[in-house]
Amino acid sequence: MWLTRSATYLSVTLMASLYITESETQAFNSSLAIEIAKHLNKAYKFSNFVFFLSENLLNDTEVMDDFLPQFWKKFPRTPYVTVTRQHYRMQGFLDKRSLIYIFVTGYDDPILPLAALNLRRIRYYPIIFVFLPRGIYDKPFTAGSEAYVNFTDNLVNIFEWIWKRQFSRTFLLSVDNNIYIHDLFPVPTIVNKTDNWSVKDLFVKIGNNFKGHIIKTPICYDLPRVFRLPSNELSGVSGKLFKAFVRFINASLIDDATCYSIKEPYNLTKILQDVSEGRLQISVHSYTEMLNSPAGSSYPIGINDFCFIVPFRRRSPEHLFLQRTLQNSTWLFVVFAMFYVTFAIWWLTTEERRDFTLAFLQSISSFLYAPPLQILYLHIKYTRFFSILLFILGFCLTNLFQSKMSSYLTASLPDSQINTVADLLATDLKIIVMEHELPILKAIGYDDAFLKRFVPVKKNFMDSHRDRLNATYAYSSQTDRWNFVKIQQLQLKYPVFHLSEICIGPYYLVYPIREDSVFYKPLKYFILYAHQYGLQTHWNRQAFSEALALKYVSMMDVNEEIKPLSMNFFRSIWLIWGIGITLSGAAFIVEMRETVFERINARAGNEWQRYIE
Ligand SMILES: *[C@@H]1O[C@H](CO)[C@@H](O)[C@H](O)[C@H]1NC(C)=O
Ligand SMILES: *[C@@H]1O[C@H](CO)[C@@H](O)[C@H](O)[C@H]1NC(C)=O
Ligand SMILES: *[C@@H]1O[C@H](CO)[C@@H](O)[C@H](O)[C@H]1NC(C)=O
Ligand SMILES: *[C@@H]1O[C@H](CO)[C@@H](O)[C@H](O)[C@H]1NC(C)=O
Ligand SMILES: *[C@@H]1O[C@H](CO)[C@@H](O)[C@H](O)[C@H]1NC(C)=O
Ligand SMILES: *[C@@H]1O[C@H](CO)[C@@H](O)[C@H](O)[C@H]1NC(C)=O
Ligand SMILES: *[C@@H]1O[C@H](CO)[C@@H](O)[C@H](O)[C@H]1NC(C)=O
Repeated sequence: MWLTRSATYLSVTLMASLYITESETQAFNSSLAIEIAKHLNKAYKFSNFVFFLSENLLNDTEVMDDFLPQFWKKFPRTPYVTVTRQHYRMQGFLDKRSLIYIFVTGYDDPILPLAALNLRRIRYYPIIFVFLPRGIYDKPFTAGSEAYVNFTDNLVNIFEWIWKRQFSRTFLLSVDNNIYIHDLFPVPTIVNKTDNWSVKDLFVKIGNNFKGHIIKTPICYDLPRVFRLPSNELSGVSGKLFKAFVRFINASLIDDATCYSIKEPYNLTKILQDVSEGRLQISVHSYTEMLNSPAGSSYPIGINDFCFIVPFRRRSPEHLFLQRTLQNSTWLFVVFAMFYVTFAIWWLTTEERRDFTLAFLQSISSFLYAPPLQILYLHIKYTRFFSILLFILGFCLTNLFQSKMSSYLTASLPDSQINTVADLLATDLKIIVMEHELPILKAIGYDDAFLKRFVPVKKNFMDSHRDRLNATYAYSSQTDRWNFVKIQQLQLKYPVFHLSEICIGPYYLVYPIREDSVFYKPLKYFILYAHQYGLQTHWNRQAFSEALALKYVSMMDVNEEIKPLSMNFFRSIWLIWGIGITLSGAAFIVEMRETVFERINARAGNEWQRYIE
């Protein structure tokens, strides 16, 4: 009795629900969806299908029993994937010619975040959203009704979500044969195509015309990459590239007035944070991609090494000019040769006229190619041959030495430069780095003594010292900044700064941009074109001359007159002279004493003799 009653109740409800779905018109039209798929396939030749299915729809007969079986029957040879809750990255696994369906029941459906996660970096693929609202089958669905309001609310929210996640080629199918497309530019709008759709305008092609889309982003001061002219126009190496890009895509750039004054430095940490959290789509402020930032990055504008620039050591060690003409071993050899020759002269002279000191003087004057004090006492023929050799040697040695010394005077070379960490540690230079760079430098594993030299500073301190070429510190710098400094000191014979070989990298110079941004692809191709046409070089020069005109940078003065020789220069000669005087003085005293002693001795001897006698 109870059984039959409940069975009757069940069959009545079943029939009722069947009746309702068939009688109401807001049901999902599978044949329409399949017809669209057929048209699209003809145009795009898909090689994969992906279905993201909301779990709320797993019991839905229209999708599970009607649409999907029909669909697979229509495209029996095309592989497909169905995703309900698995997470895997589809980038690299999906072909570009894939059609992706996302079945949702509302903007708060958990399938949406899952789809966004799985489709990271491939959100520009063609995607069809199928929106099947829950529980409206048994409610009136006419304009103004509660279900309808809920439907439109959901629709607006879903499209908002689509724009936020930067899905760029999408349209939306819904119940009651509704079709909506998303016109992104200049501002994202939903277009109702229900009564009037054609296959070719379902997936709106973005291309390079953003129809005056407004890019609002902070423009601050970061020489040489970005700065503003007094007319508020954007300049700088990266700024010019960005300005040209904005014109290329027919968009417009608006400063969001974060930096009110023209010279207010940018806050890179904040910009990267804003981009990664979606408050900014893209930023003009390019940076060296060495900070492990969660913000996405554009196609590289260039390659930047992170290096340290150090003051150039201009002072040449003048007082060492005499010593530096010959190597130490050569000096040693010359001195040895002098003694050797002294011995040879002494040995070759006849026994009765042998005089060691005379031989020594003779040897020195032959080496200096000075006229000999006394003609060599030569009795045997082969000693003449020896003396000829000696004079030739003296001639060569003196001339080589003299020309070497005079070349030292004409081009006195600067000192050796700071190139390694050890060189830098040998000086007492402090190294100025940006605050956000310090953690990375620490992570690289420099030794503690080197790390202690770093002084982390804010951007405006850095600007006022590095850009003004204040040579009391060493600084961190990147290739693009160094290029600017290099031009500044172009006219100098000896620069103010030297690029040390303490470098890390290479890193890319990139714009911060949201991952999957609609700007990514146009920007990538624009950067490639700009490189190929050599525009980057042109912009670099333009930016430099503008910075020069605004006195942000200055050319170094050429102030290199002929320098008179200083007393310092003669230091080695004074030294030799001093030592010589002391030695000869000592020798003189010894000689004096000897004669006095001899005289006393002699007198004493005489007296003794007299006494004995
Ligand atoms: C479903 O779509 C097909 C093809 O566009 C159309 O012929 C049919 O009338 C639609 N059915 C309903 C109930 O709207
Ligand atoms: C789908 O149906 C099963 C029983 O067949 C039920 O347990 C489950 O809760 C239903 N799911 C939804 C989302 O309605
Ligand atoms: C309206 O839509 C939301 C989100 O899909 C849903 O949770 C809610 O139940 C709907 N309300 C009505 C009255 O249909
Ligand atoms: C879209 O157009 C169809 C047919 O004209 C209409 O029934 C539907 O209400 C429209 N949708 C919205 C959200 O206005
Ligand atoms: C339908 O769209 C075409 C172009 O796509 C347009 O020319 C036509 O006026 C539209 N018709 C209606 C009724 O909106
Ligand atoms: C660029 O955008 C403007 C709207 O700001 C539009 O009027 C113009 O037609 C667009 N230019 C091109 C070449 O499409
Ligand atoms: C830069 O922005 C970060 C994050 O918003 C903030 O903590 C920091 O104080 C800012 N730095 C300066 C110099 O304004």
